[in-house]
Amino acid sequence: MAQGKGFGKAILFGEHFVVEGNHGIVSALDLATIAEVGRISGSEIKVNDRREGSKGYSESKLAQQKESMERTMNFLGLDAKENAVEITLSGNLPGFSGIGASAASCVAIVRALNGEFGLQLSDEKINAAAFEAEKAYQGKPSGIDNTAATYGGLLWYKKGDPPAIERMRIREPVEIVMGNTGLVADTAKVVLDVVERKKANPEKYNPIYENAEKLASEARKALEEFDLGKVGKLMDENHKLLQEIDVSCRELNDLVETAKKHGALGAKLTGGGRGGCMIALTPGKELQERVAKAMEGAGFAVLRTKIGV
Ligand code: PMV
Repeated sequence: MAQGKGFGKAILFGEHFVVEGNHGIVSALDLATIAEVGRISGSEIKVNDRREGSKGYSESKLAQQKESMERTMNFLGLDAKENAVEITLSGNLPGFSGIGASAASCVAIVRALNGEFGLQLSDEKINAAAFEAEKAYQGKPSGIDNTAATYGGLLWYKKGDPPAIERMRIREPVEIVMGNTGLVADTAKVVLDVVERKKANPEKYNPIYENAEKLASEARKALEEFDLGKVGKLMDENHKLLQEIDVSCRELNDLVETAKKHGALGAKLTGGGRGGCMIALTPGKELQERVAKAMEGAGFAVLRTKIGV
């Protein structure tokens, strides 16, 4: 029996744009998924999903989870028929859309298989295996989610083979609130839709992607200088760009507005969008609590957590 862990994440800047090679900024959360792997008799992979989550999250992802497991075993050179395993998922990262729950589970599973089968994989290899596993959930992933789930911390990311990953430093961790719309998004579908619309209409989309790249660079500087007011403004601008590429929705926009009304320095959707989660920058316990309560008062589930941990 072996265990593995994968961090949840919040994309602070650049979701969707990273899929086309832009830079993104991602922070791992202090919430993680744990996978426990044990060998069983038979020729099957059995998964017990004990993560708490949005109603319907685990059920709606079952087919993708099965494909993901097959991809993982193949990538690691493990024949599932000869290596039947039982995998149990748990941990304090809930199964919400937009917080990297699928990537965290992929990394946790790869780490647990690594331990159980004595594969001696480096973090780089673990990240590559999790990237392969993520394709079942994301279709055309940029790799930003599994990278945050593998390495933790605050990262400057550009996709590639291998991806370009730089660790960023900020003065101290900052409180955030993540609001959950409760809508389970099919990220693979949303990502593909955006990619196709960009291809069909480059005149509209190319300038938006150029703006997003400039914004990510400014955000990196503002984060490293710990200019949180500026970071917040850039988050607001990033949300507008995401609205322009049509990945927001009424619930996300309402949550963003509620957060801003109650003093958040900035707020935007995070992750694939069209459901899932948003993130509000709320330095200090007091502001965090005020914004979290306002969102809960409007009927949404929230996470009180930190970036840059
Ligand atoms: O919704 P999530 O947490 O799976 O994040 C998806 C992030 C995207 O940028 C939309 C896709 C990707 O692979 O980068």
